[in-house]
Amino acid sequence: MTANRTLCIGLSLNATWTKGEGWRQPDSEVEKMGSIDYYINWAKMAEKSKLDFLFRADYLYVSPQMIGDTASYGSPDPTMMFAAIARETERIGLVTTISTTFNPPYVVARQLQSLHWLSNGRAGWNIVTSIEGAENFGDSPMPSPQERYAKAVEFTDVVRKLWDSFPQEAIVIDRKSGMFSDKDKVTAINHSSEFFSVKGPLTLPSHKSGTIPLFQAGASDIGRNFASSVANAIFAAMPDVESGVELRNDLRSRAAEHGRDPNAIRVLPGLYFFLADTHEEALELHKTAHANLSIERRHASLKSVLGLDISDLPLDQRVTAEMLPNPNQAVRSRTHAELLRRYITKYQPTVEEVLARPEVVGSAHWVSVGTVETVLNDIIERFEAGAIDGFIALPGGSEKSMEIFFEQLVPELVERGLFRSEYTGSTLREHLEIT
Ligand SMILES: Cc1cc2nc3c(=O)[nH]c(=O)nc-3n(C[C@H](O)[C@H](O)[C@H](O)COP(=O)(O)O)c2cc1C
Repeated sequence: MTANRTLCIGLSLNATWTKGEGWRQPDSEVEKMGSIDYYINWAKMAEKSKLDFLFRADYLYVSPQMIGDTASYGSPDPTMMFAAIARETERIGLVTTISTTFNPPYVVARQLQSLHWLSNGRAGWNIVTSIEGAENFGDSPMPSPQERYAKAVEFTDVVRKLWDSFPQEAIVIDRKSGMFSDKDKVTAINHSSEFFSVKGPLTLPSHKSGTIPLFQAGASDIGRNFASSVANAIFAAMPDVESGVELRNDLRSRAAEHGRDPNAIRVLPGLYFFLADTHEEALELHKTAHANLSIERRHASLKSVLGLDISDLPLDQRVTAEMLPNPNQAVRSRTHAELLRRYITKYQPTVEEVLARPEVVGSAHWVSVGTVETVLNDIIERFEAGAIDGFIALPGGSEKSMEIFFEQLVPELVERGLFRSEYTGSTLREHLEIT
């Protein structure tokens, strides 16, 4: 299954290692997190390990949960952060997150092409339709998932047309004739449809390295359809192997239905790992990271993810499919709700087990806790099962977890021929082998 395949690996710069009580550890260096130098340091480390890209999730609202006992200097604009990081790195890809629900496509097309230009072809766009934040953009409530995805489809189309509206080939620079650029090649797009009217062309030419790779996050039926039609990579929530195999197979066959090569899309789940020198230390890191999650907080989270209130049930009572709320009721993310519904239907877990699920305590990401060997085996198992094409590293518990990842785990992957030892290209398209 893994013959000739190598992993695609990104690092999230969302400081996942300070989550929960992680920041309170004496060696957490949390004071430094308010400075860009802190992120540049990790970016350089990731580039030294030849990772494919850096990544940053982003939301356009302040969650009350982020204020108070959580380590957070707020959420700076990731595209601007990557512009600074671009000047301090040379080859690693820079995947920024931008919502199609709240921004105008002309501005987004321009920002992304600017990052591509500033970084010499290393920009990537993680397209999100957002879960919350409508109150920061007017009085209307959050649009339905259907409307958000319909808008995302048109938005992405407009952005791509704008990138093509001023092609690199339009730059001629002929001193003799006085022709700097070829007017005929810079064209309006004259787009007018359900959500947007945009004339174009864009204010700057496309970068010579080629079109900016697209990532997508959101795995409901419409989310998958959208992703498989345009995305080069999918940032997936994948708590277990089975859900991963199902998701990857489904995305690949949908891609084929869209007339695309199934190998052209890479399924990259978040891998929230807690690495330490001993298994016991790793377990302790994991426990500390979730120590602030009281039973009441877990019940509140379950209610918000699934719309299920089981706070009056004893912890050892089984939760069954009959207890699940109507599947059509509005939830923040269908992806997360569906993962939990499937788990409950299949295993009839106890209340305690439900409250321990990644969808409830975190963000439904794949969690791996242990020594380098444990996490390495987990990665190889999913890769061989056909659940993943790589992953986005979400280091958990402490900076040490991330150091062990770079210093020991990545070299083990290289040793096994599962990851590159040197870059063969210097653009994100080249790292992702987009032809
Ligand atoms: C793994 C994952 C990561 C996501 N990251 C973001 C993010 O960084 N910013 C954001 O606004 N929305 C994010 N979303 C929300 C999605 O873009 C989407 O709005 C939401 O999941 C609803 O779509 P769905 O019904 O297909 O799940 C994420 C969703 C998933 C599953």
